[in-house]
Amino acid sequence: MSKNDVIIHAKNLTRKFKMGNVDVIPLKNVSFDIQKGSFTTIIGPSGSGKSTLLNLLGLVDSPTSGELYINGLKVHEQSDHQLTKLRAKYIGFIFQSFHLIPVLNVLDNVMLQLSFSDLPKSDHKEAAIDALEQVGLGDKLRNYPNDLSGGQRQRVSIARAIAKKPEIILADEPTGSLDSKTGEGIISIIEELHKLGKTIIMVTHDLDIAARAETQLVLRDGEIRETRTKDQKELMKVY
Ligand SMILES: Nc1ncnc2c1ncn2[C@@H]1O[C@H](COP(=O)(O)OP(=O)(O)OP(=O)(O)O)[C@@H](O)[C@H]1O
Ligand SMILES: [Mg+2]
Repeated sequence: MSKNDVIIHAKNLTRKFKMGNVDVIPLKNVSFDIQKGSFTTIIGPSGSGKSTLLNLLGLVDSPTSGELYINGLKVHEQSDHQLTKLRAKYIGFIFQSFHLIPVLNVLDNVMLQLSFSDLPKSDHKEAAIDALEQVGLGDKLRNYPNDLSGGQRQRVSIARAIAKKPEIILADEPTGSLDSKTGEGIISIIEELHKLGKTIIMVTHDLDIAARAETQLVLRDGEIRETRTKDQKELMKVY
């Protein structure tokens, strides 16, 4: 693959928090490339820095030091306004606890996210309905989040993430609040998005789910301790 296929380039990313007099460093000099259209999972014990890393990649937090490039654009050189635009264009984020707005119906939850995108306002409704149909919720547009099951709520949050057609989908333990059968439905949708060409980066505690990705990043104490690829695993089975 040529260098042009790299959609995320992270170089020596470090995130430090000050807690009184103590420095907490959940992420230490992390470097990696993510290929466009690839499927990567991030695993590691609780507190190893997975969410901290995903928040940096999702442009909702900034590194203390290091460099992050998205599609060749150096992220920390952008203004806040440009960052918001970059996030709206490239990033769809899926959270463990859905983060839906309870007073808005399903359609309005998805449309609200589109108000930050470049898409003309006249296209928002159609794009939101398309996304909700894609996750099998075309018949729930007027329902409120509290009317829905956990799996349905997570599908709304996937629709919200994909409605603006971002190239990158980030998911932080998207099945963490769901039973395994419902979770499997969510992973199938995410795998389908990968097949459609999206770049997927997903944090998970489920090692079987993690192993379905092309690449696994193993985090421990804020560092990438291991990078596993599917090819390597298949090789290991042969030898
Ligand atoms: N805003 C913050 N201020 C201070 N410390 C923080 C902050 N965010 C994260 N941390 C610390 O950084 C470390 C890594 O946290 P992070 O949430 O990235 O872990 P994680 O791997 O996602 O864990 P989990 O599997 O439990 O979700 C933890 O020790 C956490 O307390
Ligand atoms: Mg986390």
